[in-house]
Amino acid sequence: MLTGKKILVGVTGGIAAYKLPHFVRLLKKSGAQVQVICTQSALQFVTAETLSVVSENPTLVHFFDEKTGMWNHHVELGLWADAFIIAPCGSNTLAKMVHGECDNLLLTTYLSARCPVFIAPAMDLDMYQQPAVTENLATLAKRGVTIIDAEEGQLASGLIGKGRMAEPETLFSTLENFFAPPNTHFKGKNILVTAGPTFEAIDPVRFIGNQSSGKMGISLVEQLISLGANVTLVLGPSHVDVPQNCKLMRVTSAQEMMDACSSVFPNMDGLIMTAAVADYKPKDYHSFKIKKNEDDMVIELVKNPDILKTLSLNKKENQFCVGFALETNNIEEYAKKKLNEKNLDAIVLNTVSNQTGFQSNTNQVKIFGKNNQSLETAIQSKEEIAVIILETLNSWIFE
Ligand code: PMT
Repeated sequence: MLTGKKILVGVTGGIAAYKLPHFVRLLKKSGAQVQVICTQSALQFVTAETLSVVSENPTLVHFFDEKTGMWNHHVELGLWADAFIIAPCGSNTLAKMVHGECDNLLLTTYLSARCPVFIAPAMDLDMYQQPAVTENLATLAKRGVTIIDAEEGQLASGLIGKGRMAEPETLFSTLENFFAPPNTHFKGKNILVTAGPTFEAIDPVRFIGNQSSGKMGISLVEQLISLGANVTLVLGPSHVDVPQNCKLMRVTSAQEMMDACSSVFPNMDGLIMTAAVADYKPKDYHSFKIKKNEDDMVIELVKNPDILKTLSLNKKENQFCVGFALETNNIEEYAKKKLNEKNLDAIVLNTVSNQTGFQSNTNQVKIFGKNNQSLETAIQSKEEIAVIILETLNSWIFE
């Protein structure tokens, strides 16, 4: 999370500038304050108005505000920011940064900024390979500027190669990693997360499912990525957007989730199981749609494997397993029973209401650790709950 962080975003002229509103949105969603500075040529690719709307601040272009005549004070801007990111950074701005030229507001602010500076270069592949450009990048890197390397792919020229600006999600996670607390034990760890419901097919058109949206698990995935973990997400049927920088395995049924989890678990440091897995599935699958013949109908159910229990009972000493419990009555008793019976390191208890559990953007949880620890949260966004869960696990499991 970048809550409260002040991020200065510099935009130069280049086709990738059209992706900047999305990047600014990611920053805002994560709680950052954002101020955008554009060069004049950036405005040929993205409008100042769009960036003003998404950043909730006027986009700055000139030394003086054209309407009010007020001076846009570059020194103040440079001192205000916790980080300055220039994306896309074209070869012209790059060269001027190297040589200390300052013929626009963005460059002047760069020269007076005291905060860490990040640049995401973007240009055509032959330009990107020019010794002048590679040497300029090396010079800035030597001076402490973080270069977010360009990516390979289709370029605006139609050529294919290296030169595309890193995707907004990559820019965002670079900043998140930079601001992440340095002592997190999740950094570099391989973590398996499950999320969403499972659907157990009755016939080609019907299934037994539940209301899990996948939001709680995906919030944990986002937060784990920002802490520097390598995340594998096994996701049941869900329409929630998935972060790009995790390994995604989509599944439908509990058996498929079991197979996917079992195949990767041996290489994991830990498992966090938020998925709402169906405990039972129809004994027989009807390959044709069942017809409406009788008044009553009976579907015989058989037990699904308990994924969490199976994996956790066989975990290695250096692996951890965390479960979730969704309860409606005797909630603490049932959650603690699952903690013990499933051999878990911790369990996260939540209940069903319009602000907690399934579907909602908020949740309230009580976390129980295997050494009798417990912690209760208020009703907060699922993103905030994810932060609290991971901070708690960080201290209970690793310290
Ligand atoms: O996805 P959202 O809409 O954001 O909602 C989030 C959530 C409510 C689904 C989530 O916060 C949650 O509580 N997930 C667990 C729901 C659940 O199925 O709990 P349970 O008490 O039935 O299962 C206990 C644990 O065993 C869970 O970690 C579950 O993933 C696991 N399990 C259950 C059954 C089974 N056959 N295999 C399992 O691994």
